[in-house]
Amino acid sequence: MITLALSKGRIFDETLPLLRSAGIEVLDDPEKTRKLILATNRPEVRVVLVRATDVPTYVQYGGADLGITGLDTLIEHGNEGLYQPLDLRIAQCRVSVAVREGYDYAAAVRQGARLRVATKYVTIARDFFAAKGVHVDLIKLYGSMELAPLTGLADAIVDLVSTGNTLKANNLVEVERIMDISARLVVNQAALKLKREPLRHIVDAFGRALETTA
Ligand code: ATP
Ligand code: PRP
Repeated sequence: MITLALSKGRIFDETLPLLRSAGIEVLDDPEKTRKLILATNRPEVRVVLVRATDVPTYVQYGGADLGITGLDTLIEHGNEGLYQPLDLRIAQCRVSVAVREGYDYAAAVRQGARLRVATKYVTIARDFFAAKGVHVDLIKLYGSMELAPLTGLADAIVDLVSTGNTLKANNLVEVERIMDISARLVVNQAALKLKREPLRHIVDAFGRALETTA
């Protein structure tokens, strides 16, 4: 049995066409079922639905043989035990620094002020500000980062941006782009040896599907 870990929503929806071109059809709609293990048209392949941030954990410890996760999540989790063969080029966005409209970020950085930065992405934020030589106090949040500068919790946030609509709706502006993000296929390194043939087959099929959409 091959187990693929996916998260509901964006990653699941954007992965379906790739699975389809690899000849794999998921038999249940995750928005309609309460099941967490979904069968596919291929008896030897199943999908497990986990929280987006839990995908690398499932794959690292062998709860799933492979999974699809954002580069953001992967960096925060770390690469241990994970083979990362493909950039799937789905769920594309970027990690950016944003502040309240009217907040003089450039001046704060220039003056060497100690910035308070709220984020779910503490590793990405720590590395970014350390490389710039900017001193920051990081405040870990699990969501709704946009609220932090509006309530005085932080001077800035580090969050995902795609269209920019969420920032705009909350009177925030993007002041620095840290990195581009897309979803990655990750494979358990031990499974890659033990289930070499079937896993290779799926990885290669994903690779071919990407070539046709390039
Ligand atoms: P969790 O459930 O663990 O809190 P989440 O709510 O961040 O995770 P999603 O919103 O489904 O989960 O995001 C999954 C991945 O999709 C993110 O890790 C990121 O790589 C990507 N992503 C998030 N927001 C966007 C967006 N607005 N546009 C494109 N890709 C995005
Ligand atoms: C993500 C992210 C931003 C938003 C950015 O949230 O956390 O808030 O997308 O996208 P935009 O620039 O196109 O507005 P998501 O929509 O996944 O909701 P979430 O808070 O449930 O993660």
